[in-house]
Amino acid sequence: MSFLDIQFEHLNTIMNDVRAPFSPERFSKTRLPVKVTDLSSLGTFADLPSCLDMLIYMPGPKSGLKLPQPYSCDPHVLSFLANAINFEDSLMPNWRETHYAYLTVDQRHVVPGGTHRNEGLHFDGMQGARHHPKLPACHQYVVSDRLPTEYSDKPVNATDLDENKHNWFKELGSQVPDDHPMYQANPFEVVLMSAYQLHRSPVAGPKDAGRRTFMRLDFSMKQQDRLGNTINPLMPAPWEFVERNLPAGLQEPEKSASWNSAKKF
Ligand SMILES: [Fe+2]
Repeated sequence: MSFLDIQFEHLNTIMNDVRAPFSPERFSKTRLPVKVTDLSSLGTFADLPSCLDMLIYMPGPKSGLKLPQPYSCDPHVLSFLANAINFEDSLMPNWRETHYAYLTVDQRHVVPGGTHRNEGLHFDGMQGARHHPKLPACHQYVVSDRLPTEYSDKPVNATDLDENKHNWFKELGSQVPDDHPMYQANPFEVVLMSAYQLHRSPVAGPKDAGRRTFMRLDFSMKQQDRLGNTINPLMPAPWEFVERNLPAGLQEPEKSASWNSAKKF
């Protein structure tokens, strides 16, 4: 099978992921992210403040995308968003009527033996018990300038898991053998993944100390109302932010890096 065939197959899987309500059965598909574009021609990232799941688009006819400075004049952020939105237009032509878009920019110093973001295998876009019935699966465009995110293509079984009782990240991560190959995009390559994609931040090696920049654009039908998310001054979310203590079993992977060490927007 050629590389292009593989891309096509994974894109097909993602297309089916995002059109149907979140379902544990879909973790059983062999999957990998698909390449969207490459930002390497833009060179090194400028210094940027970090923002976490900042609302930049709300569904509706008059909403428009609202991007505050300094993001609105940063070439990497602008190119990342333009390419992701262009791709999204072909993936879900009606997304503007249905989906929110949330931007994460995370630029921090990584130390050897540590990770920038979540180390353990996990997925982005869990829908807990409060989402009933389930919404179509979230999906994310991601890029990093070095130490790219690691992805597993291993099918896993989530059908026996209870969202209130089990740590889904731990349970699904434990089904991926330690020696299972992990896939990485190249630095500056933007890829698209869905909520069923197991992934993790790589552990920095002895010579990997230094700044790492990560960006994510999340397309979601969920109102991301977790306290701690960054407020967009140009688009304050019309909902209340609340402490979201995940069910005991669903807490974040233990070795996640501290968001507090970021210079925040
Ligand atoms: Fe993640």
